[in-house]
Amino acid sequence: MRKKYIIANWKMSPLSLRQAESLFNKIKKGLPRLKNVSVIICPPLVYLAELMRSYSGRRIIFGAQNSFWENVGPFTGELSPHQLFELGAEYVILGHSERRALGETNSLVNKKIKAAAGAGLNVVFCIGEKERDERGDYLGFIEKEIKEGLAGFSREKLGRLLIAYEPIWAIGRAGDEAASSDLLHQMKIFILKILKSLYGERGMEVPIIYGGASAPENARELLSEGEVRGLLVGHQSLIPENFIEIIKIADSLK
Ligand code: 13P
Repeated sequence: MRKKYIIANWKMSPLSLRQAESLFNKIKKGLPRLKNVSVIICPPLVYLAELMRSYSGRRIIFGAQNSFWENVGPFTGELSPHQLFELGAEYVILGHSERRALGETNSLVNKKIKAAAGAGLNVVFCIGEKERDERGDYLGFIEKEIKEGLAGFSREKLGRLLIAYEPIWAIGRAGDEAASSDLLHQMKIFILKILKSLYGERGMEVPIIYGGASAPENARELLSEGEVRGLLVGHQSLIPENFIEIIKIADSLK
């Protein structure tokens, strides 16, 4: 049985540490014993250290939503992957479309990915097209995101890589507007082929997960028929009972 990943991206919510603690505690209390799922929570950075400090359990793993491409130095306001690792965070989300919309390019994402994996973090590398066109140009776009994002990323570090396919047109939508499981399955195969061309058979072992309007009502289909290894959950991860339901569904599947 291959492990699944259910990753919460809280983005820039909630508005106070008290609310963050309350959300975290509800998730913590509601989590069943899991056989087959890693639960990773990526809160805003201002809450990360405090949530980690207050949690002594092992069922929840922590991650960040961004990190810089250098570990130390005169980079006002940036977040060192080494510092994150030292804090005990294990994952970082990189290349998210909401950061690309603020100006992150493939080459910048590439530098961040290499620095984060080099610092010992597991990288959730996000890719995804803005829209689909009939000619299939979006496939070229995805291929470029992957190839430029992973330029110079060594095979030895592949164990620290997950790829999150997050079509921008599905992000933030209602559950019935997520990618269909057919489409997701096709994209998974497409992404794995590119990874195989870059890394050979070893590339095929990189977990491919999905993000974009994932919710309790579509989680089963996305995971079992889309055949992805997990979900990167945005707004539904802010609703504890829904996030827990998604985790339970993932854990019930083979
Ligand atoms: P939603 O689940 O809110 O669509 O967000 C997906 C996402 O961007 C996760 O990184």
